[in-house]
Amino acid sequence: MKIIAIANQKGGVGKTTTAINLSTCLAKAGARVLLLDLDPQGNASSALGHRAGEGQSLYRVLIGHDTLAGKIQQTRFPNLSIIPAQMELAGCEVELVRAENHLIRLREVLTPLKDTGRFDFLLIDCPPSLGILMTSALAAADGLLIPIQCEYFGLEGLARIVDIHDQIATSGINPSVTLEGILMTMYDGRTGHCRAVVEEVRRAFGDLVYPVCIPRSIAVAESQSFEKALIEYDPNGKAATAYRQVAEAFLARQLSSDAVPAASL
Ligand SMILES: Nc1ncnc2c1ncn2[C@@H]1O[C@H](COP(=O)(O)OP(=O)(O)OP(=O)(O)O)[C@@H](O)[C@H]1O
Ligand SMILES: [Mg+2]
Repeated sequence: MKIIAIANQKGGVGKTTTAINLSTCLAKAGARVLLLDLDPQGNASSALGHRAGEGQSLYRVLIGHDTLAGKIQQTRFPNLSIIPAQMELAGCEVELVRAENHLIRLREVLTPLKDTGRFDFLLIDCPPSLGILMTSALAAADGLLIPIQCEYFGLEGLARIVDIHDQIATSGINPSVTLEGILMTMYDGRTGHCRAVVEEVRRAFGDLVYPVCIPRSIAVAESQSFEKALIEYDPNGKAATAYRQVAEAFLARQLSSDAVPAASL
């Protein structure tokens, strides 16, 4: 099981949209996926129709009062499970920091699941703040996937999250975490501004940037309001098509790094 944190400390850049649509596209392609909603806002959970009650998030597991197994719910998509989020997760910012080794607590909790071989990928939808939840996700992750919005403010955010990744890797907290990729979101090809931002990011990060940009599309907000993934709501639309292509590119990257046994895909 490869753990991918979908993170950017900047808000509203498409983390949750990517978590929902990449996980459903990967599951549709045959990968066994677990989506961990680590954002107390719970947007990924509700967008997939899994609004959680108190006690159903990872919170009690992280503070050592419960076990992981009972938190995993099957979604209506074959191959896709979810651990939903609930407001209680926000309590980690206060409770968890009191625990010893709190930064690696999430990693410890996920290790037995990794060993079972039940899932190929665990995608973590991170909250937009630089708190303990996001840091824990980076400390537990094998790879970091950074969605950035195609605008100039997005570039500043990108520099910051790349710095955070480097700090986690070099401080010894998680030396093996890699930059899995950068995904440009809310792309509008009609504006020179959008194209210039994409070009600049490609110049700086080369092949780390996914070849497909996610276009701006009204179907994204609509699908979320109907609690549907894009591949259900508007399967042939431009945003669903782009996420399918990103899932293909994601799988190709994993196979080329031999991270996942080909037989399970
Ligand atoms: N490709 C897109 N086209 C149009 N709207 C989009 C697109 N991607 C995301 N959005 C919209 O932008 C808003 C923010 O997206 P999303 O919730 O995925 O970002 P986020 O990074 O998870 O935000 P937060 O930091 O608050 O967790 C949402 O209203 C979503 O519907
Ligand atoms: Mg979000």
